[in-house]
Amino acid sequence: MSAPRVPLTECAHWYAASALFPGAIALDATAGNGHDTLFLAAHVGPTGRVFAFDVQAAALEATTARLQAADHGEPLVDRVQLFQVDHSRFPEHLPARTQGEVAVVMFNLGYLPGGDKSQTTRGATTVIALRHAVDWLRPGGLITVLAYPGHDAGVELTLLLSFLAALPEHLAWTEHEVATASSRSPRLFVLRKHDGERSPTGTRALA
Ligand SMILES: C[S@@+](CC[C@H](N)C(=O)[O-])C[C@H]1O[C@@H](n2cnc3c(N)ncnc32)[C@H](O)[C@@H]1O
Repeated sequence: MSAPRVPLTECAHWYAASALFPGAIALDATAGNGHDTLFLAAHVGPTGRVFAFDVQAAALEATTARLQAADHGEPLVDRVQLFQVDHSRFPEHLPARTQGEVAVVMFNLGYLPGGDKSQTTRGATTVIALRHAVDWLRPGGLITVLAYPGHDAGVELTLLLSFLAALPEHLAWTEHEVATASSRSPRLFVLRKHDGERSPTGTRALA
């Protein structure tokens, strides 16, 4: 009997939770229907902040509705700022003091489920946003990227893999292993910025 498969969206939450703490600053680079924004808002606590980006008004409306519907004792919307902006331009919208202080950045690439499929992430802008994300991450901070091989004619995944291969050594990355994956299955990548403690072997794998 095989173990039930955990959705990669949930695995991404599990990794992200390891780098979150009360008062943390987090970024959702693709707000979509708001599942990740809600998760981040719940984990940063009342003193934390979440900045969420999407190019579509419909996504930001769905995210706002999801935050408002979540009963958390106090309004989660108060911890979240939403921007209808391409994620490659996110640094223009964050307070300058948050540069180097972001605990988690989440990317769930592709299009809005149930929405306009033409409004989709593209490899070139995704990589620009990732470069910024690395720059704005705090030591010990983490980035999750959920990517879809068939998407953007495979260009986005190819650019993403080249980006990962060229990362400097203080950025460890790994791919979450899925036993039953096919060449068309979604892929989850996790990047962590070293917090000063280097592994003795210098390996690039996450502990
Ligand atoms: C798979 S959905 C994200 C799902 C979302 N994280 C959730 O928890 O529901 C991808 C989203 O990325 C958005 N998107 C596409 N291109 C973008 C860009 N350049 N910048 C920001 N968001 C973008 C789409 O509009 C879509 O809503």
